[in-house]
Amino acid sequence: MTFNDTFLRSIRKEPIDHVPVWYMRQAGRSQASYRKIKEKHSLMEICEIPELCAEVTIAPVRQHNVDAAILYSDIMIPVKPLGIDVDIVAGIGPVIANPIRTLADVQAMRPLEPDNDLKATLETIRILKQELHVPLIGFAGAPFTLASYMIEGGPSREYHKTKAMMYTAPDVWQALMDKLGDMIITYMKSQVANGCAAIQIFDSWIGALSQDDYRRYVYPTMKRIFEGLADLGVPKIYFGANTGHLLDQWKELNIEVVGVDWRIGLNQARSIVGSKFAVQGNLDPVYLLAPKAVLEAEAAKIIDQGLEQPGFVFNLGHGLFPTAPEDVVTHLTQFIHDYSKRRLSER
Ligand code: CP3
Repeated sequence: MTFNDTFLRSIRKEPIDHVPVWYMRQAGRSQASYRKIKEKHSLMEICEIPELCAEVTIAPVRQHNVDAAILYSDIMIPVKPLGIDVDIVAGIGPVIANPIRTLADVQAMRPLEPDNDLKATLETIRILKQELHVPLIGFAGAPFTLASYMIEGGPSREYHKTKAMMYTAPDVWQALMDKLGDMIITYMKSQVANGCAAIQIFDSWIGALSQDDYRRYVYPTMKRIFEGLADLGVPKIYFGANTGHLLDQWKELNIEVVGVDWRIGLNQARSIVGSKFAVQGNLDPVYLLAPKAVLEAEAAKIIDQGLEQPGFVFNLGHGLFPTAPEDVVTHLTQFIHDYSKRRLSER
């Protein structure tokens, strides 16, 4: 099978014959095949068995014919080796037995050594590099989103403990940002060295911060991370939910792709960040529950907007959810390919 590099070419603003698409959380509970594997293995177990983890990563590529694979892992996987006792509990998410509270807690975190700490993940990437005919996207959680779990002890809606640490102990907060920043740079370098063709930093919960707080407490660390990865030679995607108010700051970052959530239009996002960046997004995932004609009309609208300028990757505005009908996901992918091919050939 010839290698399909449409995803990378579209990001580089090179000619494409169709709009590339992949879905956040494409490997997961929306797939019956995945649910079957989950009857026998936990997420953490799958991540420890490279052949199985590679298979789980490839399954949605085969099933839906998407243009990129995303490594099957979780943002909390590289946090465990730092000395954080994290478990991923079905139906809840990451749960941490020893939440970060003090400077001593932060100082006790040790640096990540991917070759020792994450052998199975790197082996999975090497297997995928051999087996995939589309680019493999590596990823990490961003410092704020990781810190929110590490401080709250689990998923949160209000982030009171996280924000309270920012405001009352800015030195502890910054020490934590520094450690997580180092971890992310090291981890991303090792993923690329082993075969990832692009990376995405997930800052899913960053929208909880105001513009000013983002600028003060998080932006310097994001700046440092993306500068630290600048010479890797792979595209860097930054995604978060509820980020319309932050994009004006994102445009100062050394990234190639702005991940846009579903709350604002692609046009609006582009008008904020300018034409330097490719954009990725941003169908509200819940359209997968709409009648086909409604789903297609919404996808067509996004494709038309996306194609107004070079540099576009179709995605959802956030991850696939467990009850998303898998046949509809396949249908949507086919529709995106066919519709965009027609639009591109009309030019
Ligand atoms: O296809 C892919 O996107 C790759 C796999 C992937 C997972 N998690 C697997 C997973 C990726 C990229 C992630 C990232 C991740 N993990 C994020 C950022 C992306 C986002 O969705 O905002 C976040 C915030 C987490 C933390 C996390 N892990 C949550 C909130 C949950 C859901 C808990 C639940 O059960 O509802 C998880 C668990 C998790 N990570 C699952 C999967 C497939 C589901 C549980 C399972 O199958 O065991």
